[in-house]
Amino acid sequence: SDTAPQCPSLTNGDTYTQSEFLSRLANECRYDKLLLPTYKTNNVVYVHASAYVYFIQPAEAHDLNFKLHFLLQLRWTDDRLAYSLHSPKRTKIIGENDLRQRIWVPHLYMSNEQSSSLMGTDSKDVLISIAPDGEVVFSRRLQAVLYCWMNLQKFPFDDQTCSMNLESWKYNASILRLMWEMDNPVRLSSELHLTEYSLMDFWTNESVVRGDIINMRVGGAGNYSALKFTFKLGREVGYYLMDYFIPSMMIVAMSWVSFWLHADASPPRITL
Ligand SMILES: *[C@@H]1O[C@H](CO)[C@@H](O)[C@H](O)[C@H]1NC(C)=O
Ligand SMILES: *[C@@H]1O[C@H](CO)[C@@H](O)[C@H](O)[C@H]1NC(C)=O
Ligand SMILES: *[C@@H]1O[C@H](CO)[C@@H](O)[C@H](O)[C@H]1NC(C)=O
Repeated sequence: SDTAPQCPSLTNGDTYTQSEFLSRLANECRYDKLLLPTYKTNNVVYVHASAYVYFIQPAEAHDLNFKLHFLLQLRWTDDRLAYSLHSPKRTKIIGENDLRQRIWVPHLYMSNEQSSSLMGTDSKDVLISIAPDGEVVFSRRLQAVLYCWMNLQKFPFDDQTCSMNLESWKYNASILRLMWEMDNPVRLSSELHLTEYSLMDFWTNESVVRGDIINMRVGGAGNYSALKFTFKLGREVGYYLMDYFIPSMMIVAMSWVSFWLHADASPPRITL
């Protein structure tokens, strides 16, 4: 009917600017950002993740946490955004938070985050690109304080393993699957420098976690896809050796000197 708003045309897509083209492509009349890219076919949406870590700082032992600064990149395909037919000359659509507001983005969260916040709800440091075939790459810079249950029994000769757990919040594993990228899913900055610790090893895992009523998941009880990045830190014993062990040993050793002094020489013994 005439009263219904018209869906803006996509023909001659090459003549539009990026944002004009996108506002047509992702217009509400043909794109619902609340629906999964595969809502028509019910296929699993595969979200591939990778991370670039540029800062790790374990906190004081009693705080049981560490700080992580990293760049998280997520990649998935949204067929509804494929535009190679409408705009054959366009090679990429790139945008920031305004682009993110217009399209579907997976809701993930870090389950061991101390100050809990959902990813994708705040607008800082977001970069998105959409390829002609509908492949979306979403990059985001994140700072997180994460819990790490350190075992301090062998302190200061201890190793600690800490991890970053990323989980799907809204969709269960039968509709959304998280995967690490095949090659080097986690890369560390060459300038990464840890005081008091050395990085011994790191690895990634993919798993499913049981989401039950207690977790209050939007997608109900069931299995949820999860990613884990774990790193092993060895404490630098040298620091404790120089600051605590050697001074204490020297004080004890000095007290033995008094046995070599003459029994009558009380002033030097008192001084010692
Ligand atoms: C995680 O991955 C590492 C290295 O690939 C492997 O040794 C370890 O067993 C995995 N852990 C789990 C819980 O799957
Ligand atoms: C969740 O995963 C477990 C083990 O991987 C499986 O036994 C169980 O049937 C799954 N539950 C659902 C609801 O898919
Ligand atoms: C996963 O979620 C979908 C829709 O949200 C639901 O239909 C399905 O039963 C859920 N699967 C499991 C195993 O809980």
